Amino acid sequence: MRKPLMAGNWKMHKTIPEAVAMVKELKSKIADVKDVEVLICPAFTALYSLANEAKGSNIKIGAQNLFWEPKGAFTGEIAANMVTDAGCSYVIIGHSERRQYFGETDETVNKRIKAALNAGLIPIVCVGETLNERESNVTFKVIEKQVRDGIKELTAEESAKIVIAYEPVWAIGTGKTATPDQAQEVHAFIRKVYSEMYGSAAEGTRILYGGSVKPDNVAELMKKEDIDGGLVGGASLEAASFEKLVKFGK
Ligand code: PGA
Repeated sequence: MRKPLMAGNWKMHKTIPEAVAMVKELKSKIADVKDVEVLICPAFTALYSLANEAKGSNIKIGAQNLFWEPKGAFTGEIAANMVTDAGCSYVIIGHSERRQYFGETDETVNKRIKAALNAGLIPIVCVGETLNERESNVTFKVIEKQVRDGIKELTAEESAKIVIAYEPVWAIGTGKTATPDQAQEVHAFIRKVYSEMYGSAAEGTRILYGGSVKPDNVAELMKKEDIDGGLVGGASLEAASFEKLVKFGK
């Protein structure tokens, strides 16, 4: 059984006090939730404070990126062990905004995944096609390459820890969600590719959908067999709406 994971990707939003206030509020709203894993990924600056605020609750904290070298002269970068040190258990890797604006490639995604796993973090690896790619009918080709090249060369044990997020670039922050059928089709395809790479581990791999997930579309998405959770931007920024996402089945 795959336990659903609802992850908030806060991107470049919220100061430390704003972040702490929201987790405080969320904590009490979802205190009774046991059947869904809840994760918040704030900006680096808020990680430590949020991890402290979330201690003893059912909220986990993750980073939005890391650098693959363990330490050294890499001004502005953050190593995997610094991310664990700040209290994180997860890290988002290869978000399309990082691919688009910061030159992230499948090769650098792969290095970051390995560094994350070495530090004991669970990577949430993002894949997804652009609108142009979808309209040119190369969605599956693009996704297959991102999965095969980005998540390559892992041990069996490592491959079983990965979370994959399918985030069609055209659906991120646009209000245009993939239909549940469109998403399911790609999720099933990702699971098939991953099983060709790593065998039965793929059955337990959680594949999240991301791209304009909202309280009013989450339940329909979550009904699909291969959709195991959400990676949510906009709708994760307020406790009331994130609570609705976490309680999608109620
Ligand atoms: P969105 O962002 O929910 O605001 O579309 C999702 C994401 O980029 O992870």
